[in-house]
Amino acid sequence: MSEDRTPARSLGGRFTEATHPVLERINRSVDVDRRLWDQDIRGSQAHAAMLAHVGLIPEADKDAIVAGLDAVRAELADGTFVFLPSDEDIHMAVERRLGERIGAPAGRLHTGRSRNDQVMVDVTLWLRDNLPVLRSALVAWCAALLHQAEHGADVPMPSYTHLQPAQVSSVGQWLCAHAAEVSAHVRRLDDLLARLDACPLGSGASAGGYLPIDRRLTASLLGFARPTVNATATTGSRTDLLDVVGLLALLGTTLSRFGEEIVLFLSPSFGFLTLPDRLTTGSSLLPQKRNPDGAELLRGAGKLAAGDFAALASAVAGIPSGYSKDLQADKEVLFRAWDRTVDLVALATLHAEALGWKADRLAAACTPELASLWLADRLVLAGLPFREAHHLVGRAVREAVEAGTDLHGGLSRVLDAQPDAVSDPDELRTELRAMTPAALLGALVTEGGAGPASVRAQVATLRASLAPRA
Ligand code: ARG
Repeated sequence: MSEDRTPARSLGGRFTEATHPVLERINRSVDVDRRLWDQDIRGSQAHAAMLAHVGLIPEADKDAIVAGLDAVRAELADGTFVFLPSDEDIHMAVERRLGERIGAPAGRLHTGRSRNDQVMVDVTLWLRDNLPVLRSALVAWCAALLHQAEHGADVPMPSYTHLQPAQVSSVGQWLCAHAAEVSAHVRRLDDLLARLDACPLGSGASAGGYLPIDRRLTASLLGFARPTVNATATTGSRTDLLDVVGLLALLGTTLSRFGEEIVLFLSPSFGFLTLPDRLTTGSSLLPQKRNPDGAELLRGAGKLAAGDFAALASAVAGIPSGYSKDLQADKEVLFRAWDRTVDLVALATLHAEALGWKADRLAAACTPELASLWLADRLVLAGLPFREAHHLVGRAVREAVEAGTDLHGGLSRVLDAQPDAVSDPDELRTELRAMTPAALLGALVTEGGAGPASVRAQVATLRASLAPRA
């Protein structure tokens, strides 16, 4: 037998020299994946229990491994665990430390598994632990929006299309629009969580192995419903992670648009909203300034998750099936998108809870021509085809602009010039006079519309939608 020329490196038997330091540094993922330590240890303990159950390792070794992992866990929990430069990732670090603590039995732990399935069980367990935390945060944000919406159900404000005033709506309707998106994200999250029910562990490197392991037992020990279907897909695919980062990207669009509207409506040019000092910042130069930096960060940082999704999708796209090192980027992207999103949802909740509105400014922004749709619909109820009603009201608006009067004046000019356009011109004029912003709001009848009864119904429906899935 030739002499053993194995260099000092992990996984060393195959090699005759140490890894180049540049490759070693770039290859290392432990700074990112160390946060999976608890999941890694749980996975290893379940794996060891399964190995002993099927007779692949002695009971005594299993007991030593499980107890040793408990001790390693304690070191990680209290911060006394020392990571070494040679620890490539959390899996190697834990196994290395286990060996230092319990000696030979540690060498049996990696039987029938690979880091390729280990990393996936760690991440999947992490998501199962943490998605409920994000869910609670979303529910708190949605609940704050709905609480405010309830109070704003009777407060008229303009609604916009193309950022042009469109019709009279309400603060309640505006806030329910954001709450409806958040509620949909909660349901997406629930769908996603329900699908993360299959255990990756035991898939091996790519196509399983030759030992009689029991993946169903491992799955049930870890609280999964079943093992994953295909070992190659399990280890080489990241579509579930893309799903999660995709959810964060969607969530980011809602955060961003909520932030933008706060910025916009807080600007003195609109002057619709108020925010307490604790959610605003000063200027280093301009003494009078009070800036909505938090809302701007909702808008700006909210967009970044879409970039994270694109980053992960491009790391995954184009690689062959089975694990490739490209996939190691997944956790860096997931965790940065995750941490940012959790912070932003908390920030959005603070804004939703604290924002106030200036009812007088909102009512003043509901200018008379916002009664145009009411007027056209009123003509339809009187028997006019909608296109004719639209034309007549459009003319009234034009007359009003040209004569420098309001919609009522414009309508009068149209009716004076064309008295037979409607059957009851005087009644119509009187009714239009009475259509204050509050009256326009109260007259809305569409389900899902801004009518106060509709908004209260929306609040109830959206609240019910947040209940945990049975
Ligand atoms: N640190 C690796 C990752 O995060 C774990 C899997 C490594 N597998 C391998 N064969 N190099 O992707």
